[in-house]
Amino acid sequence: MKTIIEPFRIKSVEPIKFTTAAQRAKVLKRAHYDPFLLRAEDVLIDLLTDSGTSAMSAAQWAGIMEGDESYAGAKSFFRFEKIVKELTGFKHVIPVHQGRGAEKILFTLVGGKGRRIPNNTHFDTTRANVEYSGAEAVELLNVQGKDPQVVADFKGNLDLAALEVFIRKTGVKNIPLGMITVTNNAGGGQPVSMANIRATSALLRKHRIPFFIDACRFAENAWFIKWREQGYANRSVKSIAREMFSYADGCTMSAKKDGLANIGGFLCTNDDSIAQQEKDLLILTEGFPTYGGLAGRDLEAIAVGLNAALEEDYLRYRIASTAFLGNHIAAEGVPIVQPPGGHAIYLDARAFLPHICASQFPGVALANELYLEGGIRSVEIGTLMFGEHAQMDLVRLAIPRRVYTQSHIEYVVEVILDVWRRRNAISGYQLVQQAAFLRHFTARLAPRSGRT
Ligand code: F0G
Repeated sequence: MKTIIEPFRIKSVEPIKFTTAAQRAKVLKRAHYDPFLLRAEDVLIDLLTDSGTSAMSAAQWAGIMEGDESYAGAKSFFRFEKIVKELTGFKHVIPVHQGRGAEKILFTLVGGKGRRIPNNTHFDTTRANVEYSGAEAVELLNVQGKDPQVVADFKGNLDLAALEVFIRKTGVKNIPLGMITVTNNAGGGQPVSMANIRATSALLRKHRIPFFIDACRFAENAWFIKWREQGYANRSVKSIAREMFSYADGCTMSAKKDGLANIGGFLCTNDDSIAQQEKDLLILTEGFPTYGGLAGRDLEAIAVGLNAALEEDYLRYRIASTAFLGNHIAAEGVPIVQPPGGHAIYLDARAFLPHICASQFPGVALANELYLEGGIRSVEIGTLMFGEHAQMDLVRLAIPRRVYTQSHIEYVVEVILDVWRRRNAISGYQLVQQAAFLRHFTARLAPRSGRT
């Protein structure tokens, strides 16, 4: 078989800036040792997120020129709605400015004190929106998913036995809906199997509990199902994605991931009454139901992007590129969440820096070293992000879609290996200042020893 290559050529380029080690030390200190506070122009390779960072295709840019900016009933909305309905099969499609806009509306309606929302793993904004409503976010990830070293096909699966116990103990009336996040971003970008989605749906439906999918990375999840789950090898990724959605009663979606767009999202449901209430709230917080906080041109970019994300040449290259990064560092002993996920490689910072305890933020320490060594920005997913809920301390290297080439990825491998070789000399951090919610976005930290 021939090498898997980028299934595109480059028509438009953007320069990236090289810095010296001394410059990086200075700007990181100025950013209070929180990579979120760095200026993007001081970053060489930005792996902070795969969200909203995709390179759009010529077809998407062409769609943008077609954007209908009418306040109500724009052509662009109907094009967007048709594509989303075709893909998901849901009855109501509500555009929002991004995924958390959908979460905020959904949990404002169904959340509240005494309510509990199960999920394989809630991502940070999902957890925050659930908790802000007064409800409790409960995580029911299967045991394999919690162990970074275990190599298994579907480590994003929800623990069905735990869900059964959870329903019995919590009581159906206190569970407004159950969720599954595909792929499981906070747990290593690991996929969820169709069997698990189907069984979760059946169990929730038996109790008349609505089932929602957090669908941000639905196309990557569908790709893994095609290649790892028996019976799907000959199915198109699109039909697999459709089947995933067919088991659900609704979804939240950030089109900034597998929508290949720079902004946008949607909230779907089959329930007429919930949809009406969602639209009422939408008008209050996002905008009229045919634009929902987006410009007509954004709706066009998403409509084109959703189908492009399902193209199999694209997914083959994307998953291979992520695996290349993971496999090359793992071969040298670097501990990563195994196997490589879809959109990102997650370094296991507790295993990388065993001399730094969780309360001294090993993930922050490692992310900062990657920046100091080679100008790479990554993100901690661990104790800083989740506080005492953190089951692991990971550093995520999220790969923007269609943005970096193979040689960029090879450079990232080199930088990680250079940090790996001097890992024993790295020290931990302490918090100096934090916000009440989502503290990692604005935290101020200081090194515990050594560097000032
Ligand atoms: N759900 C998941 C699984 C996510 O990964 C994200 C965003 C959201 C919901 C919220 O969507 O950003 O459009 O409001 N994840 C980004 C990330 C921020 O870097 O993983 P949003």
